[in-house]
Amino acid sequence: MTYAPAASAAARESARFWDRIADRYSRKPVPDEAIYQRKLAITRDYLSPDMDVLEIGCGTGSTAIAHAPHVRHVHGVDVSPRMVQIADAKARAAGIANASFEAASLDQFPAGDGSRDAVLALSLLHLIDDWQGAVAKIAAMLKPGGLFVSNTGCLADRMAWFKLVVPIGRLVGLMPLIRVFSQRDLERCLVANGFDIEYRWRPDDGTAVFLVARKRAA
Ligand SMILES: C[S@@+](CC[C@H](N)C(=O)[O-])C[C@H]1O[C@@H](n2cnc3c(N)ncnc32)[C@H](O)[C@@H]1O
Repeated sequence: MTYAPAASAAARESARFWDRIADRYSRKPVPDEAIYQRKLAITRDYLSPDMDVLEIGCGTGSTAIAHAPHVRHVHGVDVSPRMVQIADAKARAAGIANASFEAASLDQFPAGDGSRDAVLALSLLHLIDDWQGAVAKIAAMLKPGGLFVSNTGCLADRMAWFKLVVPIGRLVGLMPLIRVFSQRDLERCLVANGFDIEYRWRPDDGTAVFLVARKRAA
């Protein structure tokens, strides 16, 4: 496990918020186990034992740990050092040897040389100030044909009013940084950054949109 200090002011705010709730988050069951299991299964269909997977915003590591037996290596990155600590401890307890974790925000994590097989960002993009920049960076990380699996709160479609609540929630420390955009905005951004969307699922017609996108060959 490695640590880097959070970079931008937005990332520092996120680190503080998620650090504070990390222990509670780790004890909370997922909101819908069947939906979570289906997302894991869909993702697994796209993974193979020769892949190195990067999970950004890995939280307490449950998803990285679930996928680790099916790939060569999973590296989890999260802006919250406490989340990373918990993820690391859970992986050790589960005897997972091919998972590593790092405390860093996406904006300070190097894009690398465009050779990654797969990047996961689950319940993350709507929490990033420059979410379009994040999509561009993830595209740059991936090799042609590489996979980007995301689950994103597309709040503009069902809860546009949330935009008004977030600043107050952030001010009193009850909400993290949240960006409000639509599924259309997200898909447009993915396509503009060279992705084809291969799978889309909006469980129960809610706000969360699960997408599997593949980086087009140059
Ligand atoms: C809603 S939680 C989701 C955690 C996990 N992916 C899951 O599905 O349970 C969002 C996570 O993203 C992390 N996060 C927020 N902003 C981030 C950033 N800029 N870079 C990296 N991680 C970030 C938070 O610390 C938190 O662990």
